[in-house]
Amino acid sequence: MTIRWALLGPGRHADRFVVPQMKRAGDTELIAVMSRDRTRGEAFAQKHEIASVYTSLAEVLRDRHVDAIYDATPDGLHVQHAIASAAAGKHALIEKPLAMSVRECVDAIVACRTRGVKLGVVFNQRHEAVHQEARRMILQGEIGEVKLVYVQIPLRLTMPRPASPTTNWRADPKMRYGGIALSIGDHAHDTLAYLIGQQIEEVSIFTDASRDDPPNDQVCGMVLKLSKGTIGYAAASFATPFARRPFEIHGTIGTLIIENSFAYLTGAGEDPTPSLILVNETGAAARRFAASECFRLEVEQFNRAINGQGEPTTPAHEGLRILAVGEALYNAMRTNRVARVAEFLPKEL
Ligand SMILES: NC(=O)c1ccc[n+]([C@@H]2O[C@H](COP(=O)([O-])OP(=O)(O)OC[C@H]3O[C@@H](n4cnc5c(N)ncnc54)[C@H](OP(=O)(O)O)[C@@H]3O)[C@@H](O)[C@H]2O)c1
Repeated sequence: MTIRWALLGPGRHADRFVVPQMKRAGDTELIAVMSRDRTRGEAFAQKHEIASVYTSLAEVLRDRHVDAIYDATPDGLHVQHAIASAAAGKHALIEKPLAMSVRECVDAIVACRTRGVKLGVVFNQRHEAVHQEARRMILQGEIGEVKLVYVQIPLRLTMPRPASPTTNWRADPKMRYGGIALSIGDHAHDTLAYLIGQQIEEVSIFTDASRDDPPNDQVCGMVLKLSKGTIGYAAASFATPFARRPFEIHGTIGTLIIENSFAYLTGAGEDPTPSLILVNETGAAARRFAASECFRLEVEQFNRAINGQGEPTTPAHEGLRILAVGEALYNAMRTNRVARVAEFLPKEL
């Protein structure tokens, strides 16, 4: 069955990546867009050939043709949109982060479960072909027991420009989910855990934050202990525009090196294509991969989940765990101690 979607938040991310790829997705019709400003919504709808423009969520949810919403609004609105969508019987695929806290994420999960609608969060990098292949090799034991993993994600932006909360939601702690450790570090630690098929259990972190409430970290390094004993190091940065994105996964009989994945962070196409190098006793073998249309793949998997075939790529309970890792990281930052993720997970789910 074709799924009919409404986009909330026709901003930069939606315009550059999400919507062009949604338009190419199978079994997908993007039939509506919601903007707070009708003129802006109409311009976006015209550019991307979207039939309906709404200026409030209530109007979107009254449209009985809409099956699912894709939420690309600021972080602080995600949970209320998921809960309202569930109440209207619509499925919700939410840009990361799923919520601003574990506590409010639980409310969204309960609302969606109660109404029997799907709730997923977009951790798009999981779809990259090079990541999928590395994960397959690791899970099939091709590098043996994984002992050590290193993932680094710098944004190629220079330092974010000074902004005020009234002109830029990213400067408003009620709208923006954390500094670098949460807003880009979540991509780094989620990729690390996803690649090796383990869960993060303990965390410690160092950052350059000069304030801790709310933290204003621009550079962070996290040391992670995973469920099968692997040690992970995940780094993220806004302040090092020339840094690369090397990932290294070291096992007892081989090493995998991934370069140039997360191509969309730089505006895919400017970089060499992603590569995967396997190093073992026979030498080093490199393969190149095309950059993947991660948002198209994300939407297609969500459609399948709605149609009863599997689950969203990152289902809500995994989005919740990623938030718990974030809360553990900020606890570790504030206390200068190791934090256990289990202590930040809700008891009731
Ligand atoms: N998966 C990823 O790698 C990735 C990458 C980038 C962004 N994101 C996520 O995507 C979401 C959007 O990011 P973005 O970079 O596209 O932001 P953006 O350019 O600021 O777009 C957000 C849009 O949301 C709408 N909006 C609704 N209420 C708003 C409010 N109170 N304040 C500001 N805008 C409001 C605005 O459209 P109208 O003014 O027309 O209503 C705005 O254009 C965020 O949650 C971000 O974390 C994820």
